[in-house]
Amino acid sequence: TWTAVDAYAFPHSHPASRPNTKALEDALAASSAAGLPEIAVSAAQGKFLALHCRATGVTHALEVGTLGGYSAIWLASENPQLRLTTVEFNAHHVEVARRNIAAAGLADRVEVIHGAGIDVLPRLRDEVKAGARPPFGFVFIDADKENNWNYVKLAKEMVRPNSVICVDNVVRQGKLADPNNTDPRIVATRNLVESAGKEPGLDSVVLQTVGSKGYDGWWWAVVN
Ligand code: DHB
Ligand code: MG
Repeated sequence: TWTAVDAYAFPHSHPASRPNTKALEDALAASSAAGLPEIAVSAAQGKFLALHCRATGVTHALEVGTLGGYSAIWLASENPQLRLTTVEFNAHHVEVARRNIAAAGLADRVEVIHGAGIDVLPRLRDEVKAGARPPFGFVFIDADKENNWNYVKLAKEMVRPNSVICVDNVVRQGKLADPNNTDPRIVATRNLVESAGKEPGLDSVVLQTVGSKGYDGWWWAVVN
């Protein structure tokens, strides 16, 4: 039913005649053909993130975990004012993403950085602190879940006041709330949720989601 609702509603909110439809579908097909895991955000999620950036006038966004560039294409294609910096660890994913982003005509506004988020983000943070790079107005974290809290702490140091940081996949079919689950990704995400609640300057919420990607959720925070 969750998939049926996405399949019903999405084409009404975003008709296939929209200018970015082909680029988005091509990116998914090319990613799949290149053997990437089919774990990109759903179309509805991609559009939601893009609408958030439009509503808040984000000019510089940061993504950790590019995969094949599908969410990057959503963010940039729906937001002509937006420049995106996106970080990807896997060299093959970087190559596929760069190709997809170029095919979408967005290479001039989307910078794909090859590297581990935990190495690249401190460098970006230092550049923002030094005034060499503008602070970000939105951050989407969708990479190695073990580093979720590290990424949020780094992101917090390089955003404009009142910016949103969003972390994907925090609920995982409810595993988040199972204290006996020892999956390091779940343990780390519990640490994110618990640490964020005690961190000055962060006001956060866990929002459960269902849809074509099943039952999961986002951690969503405003940095004050
Ligand atoms: C997985 C990772 C994701 O970022 C996602 O959205 C869904 C699944 C995974 O590693 O299984
Ligand atoms: Mg994800």
